[in-house]
Amino acid sequence: MINDLWYKNAVIYCLSVATFIDANGDGIGDFQGLMQRLDYLQGMGVTAIWLMPFQPSPMRDDGYDISDYYGVDPRYGTLGDFVEFTHGCRQRGMRVLIDLVVNHTSEQHPWFQAARSDPESKYRDWYIWSKKKPKDAAKGMVFPGVQKSTWNHDSVAHAWYFHRFYEFQPDLNTSNPEVQAEILKIMGFWIQLGVSGFRMDAVPFIIAAKGAGAKIQEHYNMLRTFREFLTWREGEAIILAEANVLPNTDMKYFGAFGERLQMMFNFEVNQHLFYAMATSDSRPLVKALRATKSRPATSQWGQFLRNHDELDLGRLEPKQRQAVFAAFGPDPNMQLYNRGIRRRLSPMFQGDRRRLELAYSLMMTLPGTPVLRYGDEIGMGDNLALPERNCARTPMQWSTEPNAGFTISDKPILPVISEGPYGFQHINVADQRRDPHSLLNWMERIIRMRKEVPEIGWGDFSFVSAGRPDVLAMRYTWRNNSVFCVHNLCPEPREIHFSIDHGEERRVLVNLLSDDHSESDARGRHSILLEPYGYRWYRVGGLDYLLKRTPV
Ligand code: NOJ
Ligand code: CA
Repeated sequence: MINDLWYKNAVIYCLSVATFIDANGDGIGDFQGLMQRLDYLQGMGVTAIWLMPFQPSPMRDDGYDISDYYGVDPRYGTLGDFVEFTHGCRQRGMRVLIDLVVNHTSEQHPWFQAARSDPESKYRDWYIWSKKKPKDAAKGMVFPGVQKSTWNHDSVAHAWYFHRFYEFQPDLNTSNPEVQAEILKIMGFWIQLGVSGFRMDAVPFIIAAKGAGAKIQEHYNMLRTFREFLTWREGEAIILAEANVLPNTDMKYFGAFGERLQMMFNFEVNQHLFYAMATSDSRPLVKALRATKSRPATSQWGQFLRNHDELDLGRLEPKQRQAVFAAFGPDPNMQLYNRGIRRRLSPMFQGDRRRLELAYSLMMTLPGTPVLRYGDEIGMGDNLALPERNCARTPMQWSTEPNAGFTISDKPILPVISEGPYGFQHINVADQRRDPHSLLNWMERIIRMRKEVPEIGWGDFSFVSAGRPDVLAMRYTWRNNSVFCVHNLCPEPREIHFSIDHGEERRVLVNLLSDDHSESDARGRHSILLEPYGYRWYRVGGLDYLLKRTPV
């Protein structure tokens, strides 16, 4: 096993340059501003930053509609600023991942403009066309309720083009070898500028056979090509896949020998985690964790709570989904695309600190690498007056200064939350820095501890029976060390009794987060009283574990 696979025990933080901080006062976040906040991120313990798209774009899908893959949108800065940024990250020991959005381009992209206006252009075959309106034009929309079809008529081309997402995002013909070569070139370009890999957008659609009447078929081998190219150019670079797929296809994405993509977001666990938090029933979560357990040793899950999209609950059973809606998004305006909740994390829990800590503690102790969303570290809220997913993309709240210290302009790119309990006057970084009990400082401490528990990123996990479904008890083992984590999902205190199998050491559980350690009775049984939504992280044995850890 290669010891230095950095992504196995990383802490990833995602942010959008546009809404992080604005240095030049035009109301739009930029790289100059972001660079001044790198010490903040490093101080929190972040080891990798994932940037949402920042390339030139008409910005009709928050930058996921790219019109030039080889540039920086001038609103955010220049390529020069970008290189300063990656360099600044490297100096602080942080890696950079960027979004790779190559399932589709913007309709404004010169490739599409050439493709539609000239049937002889080589770019014509870079997209997916049909002379007649395909029969399935009203099927397969990713944004139901907003998106009307997957095929649009183009009056210039006199033909229909395919778009899996919005109509201004024509799909690239990813089976065309020239398009594939271009994707590699894009990766090569950004690798050269200092990134350590990509969050690859919409992977299942990139590898799917496309076209009118196309049979369902995935070209998984494409993934191996992407990966081989990437690691040939830069050994430590990875691809983190956005692929919301069923557990039985996970291995196709990782590759049986780990030869395809290194990381995937665990959507299966994410949805069942929210179900568990909504109902205090851990059983479906346990099932999801088991279903996604096997993966090649070099591969890794990305575990997350919320991201820039809606909380997609599409894989839950209808009854389960309704339970999550009822608990966390009862109002139709909180829901989106008939399948998800568009709110930020904190308002879903009515700002309840106990539940926020429980959620983060769970995320950090699930098998994989945690991925945090900007603003969640201070418990930011949402603005449901904004359309679709924009409600959870408002500017970062830095201080009590006007516009939360995000910009000195009075026209921020999206309104800053400035009213109610989540307004910047109450929720901001500056205040929370000064308060040792703030969520921000809690987050910093828990991240610090998470990094010191590589058992979670690298080890094997098993479930320990706590005798009741509202308490989740998991144990990690790695290199002769063992860690035990327990979470009370319910609003009542719970007492649990259990034993752990780890030689004589099983008698002592050393609490990693507070003082109350646990000693077993003579038979090795522990009894722990958990407060409502309480959680514990223990080391089995003692703190001399490092001396006992085996080197391989
Ligand atoms: C997935 C991204 O996460 C989402 O924000 C975007 O709208 C679609 N892909 C289309 O690129
Ligand atoms: Ca700016």
